[in-house]
Amino acid sequence: MDKNLIIDKTKEYVESKLGGEGTGHDYWHVLRVYKMSIYIGKKEKADLFVVGITALLHDIADWKFNDGNSDIGPKLSKEWLDSLEVDDDIINKVTKIIRTMSFKGGTTNALQESIEGKVVQDADRLDAIGAIGIARTFAYGGYKERELYNPDIRPQKYTDFEQYKKNIGTTVNHFYEKLLLLKDLMNTETGKAIAVQRHKFMEEYLDQFYREWDCTELDSTFIEIE
Ligand code: NI
Repeated sequence: MDKNLIIDKTKEYVESKLGGEGTGHDYWHVLRVYKMSIYIGKKEKADLFVVGITALLHDIADWKFNDGNSDIGPKLSKEWLDSLEVDDDIINKVTKIIRTMSFKGGTTNALQESIEGKVVQDADRLDAIGAIGIARTFAYGGYKERELYNPDIRPQKYTDFEQYKKNIGTTVNHFYEKLLLLKDLMNTETGKAIAVQRHKFMEEYLDQFYREWDCTELDSTFIEIE
């Protein structure tokens, strides 16, 4: 089958699975990751077909929504690509990347060997930071019924994946536990350059968040009762 047709059919398949999802792992996330993957992939001279297919299928069954089971995504991806008669070596490349690319609290080895894996992982991580990253983080926190912020709960450093999965920290802590770490985990120079700018925006956002939380933006003489 023609590569463009495979891409188009895969977009439709993913939209049918993830359209309308409300925690930030929806079809629009996948489309942004797809576009960013193609952009980075072109600059980094990766195989754009592998990059595109992997980007489209990377969240088809995320472990976060399958009781931590990381096998479902690669399995569904293989079944889908088999049905389109995609070559086995391409299917193997795609499923290997999907199996290994998730962050999981930084507790597992998500290192990517192939340039295609590096590209898609960067694109996925870029969608977790910046303005959209902030929006997705609060949406996911709401889904998990996390507090927005609580000054009494400090950010954690997770040493194992089980602990990360069960964490009940606040959404603002998640910035320190994941989002602000991603800039230094970028694989490609292209990804890093975009991450630096988005990282700066998140730091500014947090500064403003604390100013509003602590009322330090107000004239303090007016918030005293006497
Ligand atoms: Ni994703």
